[in-house]
Amino acid sequence: MGERLKGKTAVVTGAATGIGRAITERFCQEGARVLAVDLSGRQNALAESLGSVCIPFQADVSRGEEMQALFEAARTHFGKLDILCNNAGIKGHLALTEDYSEEHFDQVWNVNGRSIFLGMHYGLSLLRANGGGSIINMGSMASVVAASHMIAYCAAKGAIRMMTKVTAVEYASQGIRANCICPGTIDSELLSRLPRSTIQNMVDNSPMKRLGQPEEVAALAVFLGSDESRFITGTEIMIDGGITAI
Ligand SMILES: NC(=O)c1ccc[n+]([C@@H]2O[C@H](COP(=O)([O-])OP(=O)(O)OC[C@H]3O[C@@H](n4cnc5c(N)ncnc54)[C@H](O)[C@@H]3O)[C@@H](O)[C@H]2O)c1
Repeated sequence: MGERLKGKTAVVTGAATGIGRAITERFCQEGARVLAVDLSGRQNALAESLGSVCIPFQADVSRGEEMQALFEAARTHFGKLDILCNNAGIKGHLALTEDYSEEHFDQVWNVNGRSIFLGMHYGLSLLRANGGGSIINMGSMASVVAASHMIAYCAAKGAIRMMTKVTAVEYASQGIRANCICPGTIDSELLSRLPRSTIQNMVDNSPMKRLGQPEEVAALAVFLGSDESRFITGTEIMIDGGITAI
C-alpha cells in the first residue's frame, strides 16, 4: 500500500483481533516488520496471512517475564525496535464501584494498566539502542471522561495517559517519543461485552452518529509510528467521532 514505515520494526500487543489486528496489517502494508503479540493464539493465523514480515508471539502482557521474552524475540528477529504499540486490553467486569471486587479490579488493572508500564519498562532499552523510536499506548475516551460501572477500566486508561507523558518527558532527549491514542466507540470484539442498548446510546450521543472502525485507528497509529509525527510527543489524541467534544 505504501512506504510510510519502510525499514521500521514494531511490536504490537493485542495484535490478533480488532484495533491491534488492523494496526498490524497496516504497519506491514506500510513496509514495517511486526512482532504480533497476543494471548489468544489467534496471532498465528494473522501472521500466516501477512507472510514473513509478521512474526507471531504468544504472551500475556500483564506478566513481566513474558514481556521480557517478547522483547528478546524482537531483538533476535529484528535486531532493533522502532515502534512499540502497547495496545492489548480488556473491557473487564462491569459493576458499580461498591460492587466491584478486588479481584476484578486487579485483573483489569493488570491487563490494561500495569501492562503499559511493563511494555515501556522492558521495551525502552531496545528503543534506546536503536537511537530512538515511537511508543504508542492505547488509551480510550475513558482516559479523559468517566464511564459508569467501569472504575477499573477508567483508572487504567487514565493512568495510561499519565504514564505516556512521564515517559515522553524522560526520554525525549534520547529520540524516543511516546503518545497515547484515545479511541471512542470502535467496532470490535471488545464491544460485545457491552449491552446493545449501551452501544446504541453511545452512537446516538456521538456527533458523527456511528461507530469507529479499527482501520481508522490504525491510520492514526501509522502516523504516530512514522517520522511524519516527529514533533509530537507526550500527548493524547482523541479518535472518537467528536463524542468527547460535547
Ligand atoms: N473497541 C473500542 O471501542 C475501544 C475503545 C477505546 C479503547 N479501546 C482499546 O483498544 C485496545 C484494543 O481493543 P479492541 O477493541 O481491539 O479489543 P479486542 O477485544 O478486539 O482485541 C483485544 C486483543 O487483546 C488480546 N489480549 C487480551 N488480553 C491480553 C493479554 N493479557 N495479553 C495479550 N493479549 C491480550 C485479545 O486476545 C485480543 O486479540 C484495548 O486496549 C482497548 O481498551 C477499544
